[in-house]
Amino acid sequence: MSTDQRRVRVAQCPGESGRAFDVGQQERDDARRSVTLRAHSTRLARGLGGGNTRTIALTVRGRCSTSVTASARPRGGGTLTRFGHFDDVAREYVIGQPDTPLPWINYLGSEDYFGIVTNTAGGYTFYRDARLRRLTRYRYNGVPLDGGGRYLYVRDADTGQFWSPSWQPTRTDLDDYRCRHGLGYTVIGSRRDGVEVETTYFVPLGETLEIWRATVTNHRPSPARLSLFSAIEFCLWEAWDDATNFQRNFSTGEVEVDAGVIYHTTEYRERRNHFAFFACSEPLAGFDTQREAFLGPYRGWDRPVVVERGRSGDSVAHGWAPCGSHHVVLDLEPGAQRDVVFVLGYAENPPEAKFHPPGSGTLDTRGVRPLIDRYLRTGAVDEALARLAEHWEQLLSTLQIDTPDPHANRMINVWNAYQCMATFNLSRSASLFESGLGRGMGFRDSNQDLLGFVHMVPARARERILDIAATQLPTGGAYHQYQPLTKRGNDAVGSGFNDDPLWLILGVAAYLKETGDAAILDEPVPYDNLPGSEEPLYGHLHRSLRYTTERLGPHRLPLIGRADWNDCLNLNCFSETPGESFQTTENREGGVAESVFIGGLFTLAAAELAEIAARHGDTAGAERCRAAGTEMAAAVAEHGWDGEWFLRAYDFFGAPVGSAANEEGSIYIEPQGMCVTAGIGLGDGTARQALASVSERLATPHGLVLVEPAYTRYHLELGEISSYPPGYKENGGIFCHTNPWVMIAETRVDNGDRAFDYYLRINPSAREELSDVHRCEPYVYAQMIAGKEAPTHGEAKNSWLTGTAAWNYVALTQWILGIRPDHDGLRIEPCLPGGWDGFEAVRRFRGATYRIRVRQAAAGRVTSLTVDGRPVDGTLVPLAAPGATVTVEAEIG
Ligand code: GLC
Ligand code: GLC
Repeated sequence: MSTDQRRVRVAQCPGESGRAFDVGQQERDDARRSVTLRAHSTRLARGLGGGNTRTIALTVRGRCSTSVTASARPRGGGTLTRFGHFDDVAREYVIGQPDTPLPWINYLGSEDYFGIVTNTAGGYTFYRDARLRRLTRYRYNGVPLDGGGRYLYVRDADTGQFWSPSWQPTRTDLDDYRCRHGLGYTVIGSRRDGVEVETTYFVPLGETLEIWRATVTNHRPSPARLSLFSAIEFCLWEAWDDATNFQRNFSTGEVEVDAGVIYHTTEYRERRNHFAFFACSEPLAGFDTQREAFLGPYRGWDRPVVVERGRSGDSVAHGWAPCGSHHVVLDLEPGAQRDVVFVLGYAENPPEAKFHPPGSGTLDTRGVRPLIDRYLRTGAVDEALARLAEHWEQLLSTLQIDTPDPHANRMINVWNAYQCMATFNLSRSASLFESGLGRGMGFRDSNQDLLGFVHMVPARARERILDIAATQLPTGGAYHQYQPLTKRGNDAVGSGFNDDPLWLILGVAAYLKETGDAAILDEPVPYDNLPGSEEPLYGHLHRSLRYTTERLGPHRLPLIGRADWNDCLNLNCFSETPGESFQTTENREGGVAESVFIGGLFTLAAAELAEIAARHGDTAGAERCRAAGTEMAAAVAEHGWDGEWFLRAYDFFGAPVGSAANEEGSIYIEPQGMCVTAGIGLGDGTARQALASVSERLATPHGLVLVEPAYTRYHLELGEISSYPPGYKENGGIFCHTNPWVMIAETRVDNGDRAFDYYLRINPSAREELSDVHRCEPYVYAQMIAGKEAPTHGEAKNSWLTGTAAWNYVALTQWILGIRPDHDGLRIEPCLPGGWDGFEAVRRFRGATYRIRVRQAAAGRVTSLTVDGRPVDGTLVPLAAPGATVTVEAEIG
């Protein structure tokens, strides 16, 4: 195999001339079978810019595509600034070198058991709740970043050398490294000194355990005498306590080791009936469960004494820090390959049957053992992997698109949808930017996330809506968040965010349009989870709306409360105390500060509820909603317009915020996006004017900033927003969540070019070549990208758990492509960039399949629509019979 710039030549045998491939090119073999050719050598990659020639062996395995890749960043010059590439056929992001700018993660699990896994096997795992049932320990904010994980070490008995096949934690040079993050699984492989180890990590559907399958191959011409060591560190369940309460928990750690399985049983003797297990498929040469015995004093995970000397300590933890490590000896002949399976999981025993023999204090393992044994077999692993692939195929096939833009295609078809499912599963709780200790499920966050996943998991969306609504307060207001384990609201991060209740209406409207399941409106749902307070969900929606109308300020605009969508615009806070939370502090009674943004949101929500009410047979209710919406739109138009854009708010003193009159913070993005989306200003030109101002003042090559100019000093009357340095977070960062509102607004004024241009600016795939600048994962959205006033303009932070995922998905699919579920059918109202000649899509909707073909002769709106060849008036495709497949053709221009 040889490489020049970005071409790779692959030969079956050294000496053959072989075939040339472009780097990243994917091929299928003739039988459409499964060949994967890989050349992800870090050294090779580094040589890419220099026209190096290298010969490497060819790996053929049973997978679905052929991909030849040698991408990564060339050191010392060159133009490539990627660290990997998309394998669109396999639906994987393939990372070609381990030292990415930040750990690039994936999630394992999508039901009850979850894990974060980084591209170097870091991360941790938990059952349901990242704080209360943490299985393994992770060190946030440590150095090097990313400490604690699912580690393996290989030791060569002949040389005494050892290394980590995932690079971390030893960070030994590897001849070859690649990490493939796929849908619900991650594969990390590498080669060193002729020994290749490739490990697949995933959580089987329906189980509360994770599998690591390590395939070890000896490519040397001579036998290899190897040891494989596994290593994890157990968290003592409650992650906050684990990280703080040392006087207690240095004394509580307990484990049991039985028939090769390590059981973590801390606190099991008394109030817990759950435990963790860590098992290995091979006979053990030894094990360790005491961290200090494994690492040795004053050593870290990069140089465990046990691995160095090649012998386990067979240690049993009593207190201190329980860990789990297996030692497996592998003698491999040249060319030999061996699978070693590790299973790490969570299990519960019935409270009355915890011990065996009863009363003995010894863990009863009889219930869990058959499960463990099943997954220690490779056959079961293959089956579970196949089911997982099928599961994701099923979810993603709800909508697949084929547009002229590869970045839109891969994000919508794979990664953006995948990220939406991550926000469904994790809300804002566990990522490398959310510690898993604090934030549960946000009221507003979860309702917005729902917009991005409702079509994939409607039944679970229904359950989510009912859970959220049950935490609503009798006033119609909301706790800002609730804990997933208890489903109870709490005000740990405050309440009285006056936008919160309105998002419930948007969430329910999206659910109804997707499913047509009007019965949900009749579900009795309590307030604040109080038995006896039940009212049909329909009533909750009206209370949400009333919550706003009962809290209007001097301009008849909604009072902002602690804050609205922008958590950091704290107009009643006036905080001068260091460390005080801007969200829980409210130092002044707020009867004046108003939010124009909530005015826009209310207008949108009122229109949705009016329609729901009308269909629910509540004509009077529908009329009331309509009237309230109209009044609000009028108040926004009268008191919320600054001259060239929408104002953001009125502060505690009644002074405008986000006005040309303000020297700093003169224009904010949120009201421009939301008010126009709600239809305000469409008739009188103000909508277009507002969007022109956005383009002029807020647009940068990296996306649209939130506010401009950013605040350079602390404004007591504005709160947290002015506490960030200019260009970061809410203070003039590109807060990506807000950008799709503007994209949607642009489609409302028929500007598909601008909508799509904004879309591409923050699309992570389109930013892949800027990975050095962007730094976060190129396959998922980040919450923010540093704005134009920041010295690090273009640098992303807080990837994965952000409302950006849902909103960008909605903006592209429902407004730019215009495939929009509606109460009575599927609306087809594209607003495409002028250069496109159309697109195709397949959408499953209420049991039928719609094959959609849109042809665009010239930029504009739909001029004709046919369903199975029959013309349809307007833009609504009527519901097809469940099971049917219909062909929809739309002409534009
Ligand atoms: C974070 C919060 C979200 C809020 C946004 C803006 O993303 O999760 O609720 O709207 O910040 O402050
Ligand atoms: C938002 C802000 C963050 C703040 C948090 C509090 O996420 O971005 O800075 O701490 O809200 O809820």
